[in-house]
Amino acid sequence: MMRGRKPKKEPTIAVVGPGRVGQAMGKLLRGSGFPVRFVVARRIAAARRATKCIGGGRAVSLDSAELEGAQIFLLTTSDAALAPIAARLAGTLSGWKGKVALHTCGSLPAAVLAPLQKQGAAIGSLHPFQTIPNPAEGLRNLRNCFWAIEGDAAARRVATRWVRALDGVAFAVPPEKKILYHAAAFLVCPTEITLMERSTFLLRQCGIPEKVARPMLAQIVTETVRNFAKLGAQGALTGPAARGDWAIIRGHMRALERAAPDVRPVYKSLLRAMLRLARRRPPRDLERMLG
Ligand SMILES: NC(=O)c1ccc[n+]([C@@H]2O[C@H](COP(=O)([O-])OP(=O)(O)OC[C@H]3O[C@@H](n4cnc5c(N)ncnc54)[C@H](OP(=O)(O)O)[C@@H]3O)[C@@H](O)[C@H]2O)c1
Repeated sequence: MMRGRKPKKEPTIAVVGPGRVGQAMGKLLRGSGFPVRFVVARRIAAARRATKCIGGGRAVSLDSAELEGAQIFLLTTSDAALAPIAARLAGTLSGWKGKVALHTCGSLPAAVLAPLQKQGAAIGSLHPFQTIPNPAEGLRNLRNCFWAIEGDAAARRVATRWVRALDGVAFAVPPEKKILYHAAAFLVCPTEITLMERSTFLLRQCGIPEKVARPMLAQIVTETVRNFAKLGAQGALTGPAARGDWAIIRGHMRALERAAPDVRPVYKSLLRAMLRLARRRPPRDLERMLG
């Protein structure tokens, strides 16, 4: 009689700081067969709420000795809380050898979890290059997304398995470059929202209500993004700077001076970069204005 091999038991996970990312990742990992055993928050009521979203796990507080039963700690707290939480966990729990601690912060390296590494844990970070405004959106968009991974080999192995299970793409970022890597994400995500809000403000002054402006902006931005992905930056660039239509640019600057002076310096900075991209040199008066 052939004896079937016992399936390998997956290591148990504790999600620490179950906010937007923690809840979404907890539910996704659980759905992919990774056992989320604990959901840990500073307020037990928040941990209980999160277990409902995740669909399982035991709600416990940060000082609970039960946590020694977890093998992987996924820290999804705010960035500033990572170092103190790592120090607190290292001080209150024992038996870290062979365990893994991962965080999801894009700007800080794994080394922020050094107190856990000192106790014998493998530390790492896995950062989704994605925007998660609430857990429900995270459940959708943390699949098939791109993840930056760095840290100790054992931690990278866990992170890579998770990313594969979520049909994502894993890539490495050197720890000392994480802040620059995060600035790259910042440059295209929260700034984009801010630009769209300012654009809505200008459109309102032209008599276009927000309920029209929002889908209208979403459409042009979606098209722009699609063109960028397909054609690259130079191929996708349109508008008066790409055409060398200097009279229009002078007109924009005058109109912005009256309607939204706060937007003018942003317009000028972006225009400088755009002209470099378009390989165009503006006439003298504009060059002086751009400084
Ligand atoms: N949201 C995104 O788009 C996104 C994308 C990529 C990566 N990330 C990264 O993922 C991590 C989590 O982000 P998030 O957007 O999910 O944040 P979030 O929704 O604000 O959740 C943060 C969680 O951390 C907890 N927390 C904060 N300070 C704490 C402390 N001193 N002690 C214990 N728990 C504490 C909060 O608990 P309370 O409820 O008690 O305050 C909350 O549960 C961050 O490192 C962030 O940089 C976020």
